[in-house]
Amino acid sequence: MAIRNICTEGDDVLRKKCKEVTSFDKKLWDLLDDMAETMYKANGVGLAAPQVGIVKRVVVIDVGEGLIELVNPVIIETEGEQTGDEGCLSCPNEFGIVTRPKTVKVQAKDRNGNHLILKGSDLLARAFCHEIDHLDGIIFKDLAKNLTKITR
Ligand code: NI
Repeated sequence: MAIRNICTEGDDVLRKKCKEVTSFDKKLWDLLDDMAETMYKANGVGLAAPQVGIVKRVVVIDVGEGLIELVNPVIIETEGEQTGDEGCLSCPNEFGIVTRPKTVKVQAKDRNGNHLILKGSDLLARAFCHEIDHLDGIIFKDLAKNLTKITR
């Protein structure tokens, strides 16, 4: 496992539409392992592959309930609404208010290509939306209100 560099806003890769994963091989497993390590090191709750410069539909999330790995994730159902603070490891020290669904159901593959259906509410639903947006080149700041930059 290795820590990878996190791309920051302005880097083209964050605006790319990511490609579907078709090979569930060691290269994918290494990417997933490295992404988890990189996310934990940065104290993030989620990381998408373009944030480490890889234009593939791969996401890792841990909102404190254990590691979730999503390959080719798609939101298939949403319910309700929540409005709250959001930030991103690619936009350090910037925060904004984003409205997201309260509950989200996601369909994806696991690292071995097995079909997964996951449901999450609150912070997990927010993380699903935020990270899956990254796979389509969308950054939370595109959707945020009251953007704040913390400087010191
Ligand atoms: Ni982000």
